[in-house]
Amino acid sequence: MTYAIVYTSNTGNTRMLAQRLQQQIQPEQLVYMGAPNDKALEADMILAGFWTDKGSCDPEMAAFLSRLTGQQVFLFGTAGFGGEASYFETILSAVKKNLPETVKLVGQYMCQGKMPQAVRRRYEAMEESPRRQMMLDNFDRALSHPDEGDLTALEQAFGQSQP
Ligand SMILES: Cc1cc2nc3c(=O)[nH]c(=O)nc-3n(C[C@H](O)[C@H](O)[C@H](O)COP(=O)(O)O)c2cc1C
Repeated sequence: MTYAIVYTSNTGNTRMLAQRLQQQIQPEQLVYMGAPNDKALEADMILAGFWTDKGSCDPEMAAFLSRLTGQQVFLFGTAGFGGEASYFETILSAVKKNLPETVKLVGQYMCQGKMPQAVRRRYEAMEESPRRQMMLDNFDRALSHPDEGDLTALEQAFGQSQP
């Protein structure tokens, strides 16, 4: 079995997940690790990691996923909002729409990822409301993620996806 780890990450959260997955794979089995690139397509299994952009994966990852053919895929990602499994399920459903039918999805994992301070300043500038408070609270909860618990859960999800 050969693997490729393909990921997009602007601020490093998804990269943390990719690096933890790298530790789970024998170096000689890893044919590619990095940004979306057709070099990854020769692997038997693609570990595809994305940051959440407006409820789905970012466009660069969406374009890559649509170029897959018959590979096995393990999807992983980070999102600024979290706390509810149903939210991650909704994002993953949107991401999966980019996968051709010939691809076999073997597993998936998502966790929360911290956001830049500029986002908090934007929330602070909003008029006070329960929604503003919810967004501030979420921002602060996200600050410590991905944490060790997230990375361990990722390892478990990946382990379960292996034959
Ligand atoms: C332009 C933009 C759009 C985003 N859209 C969402 C979103 O729809 N839902 C969400 O939960 N997080 C959203 N986020 C937050 C990021 O997905 C989150 O911080 C992620 O962990 C960033 O991953 P990275 O560090 O690997 O780039 C958005 C961030 C940016 C910059």
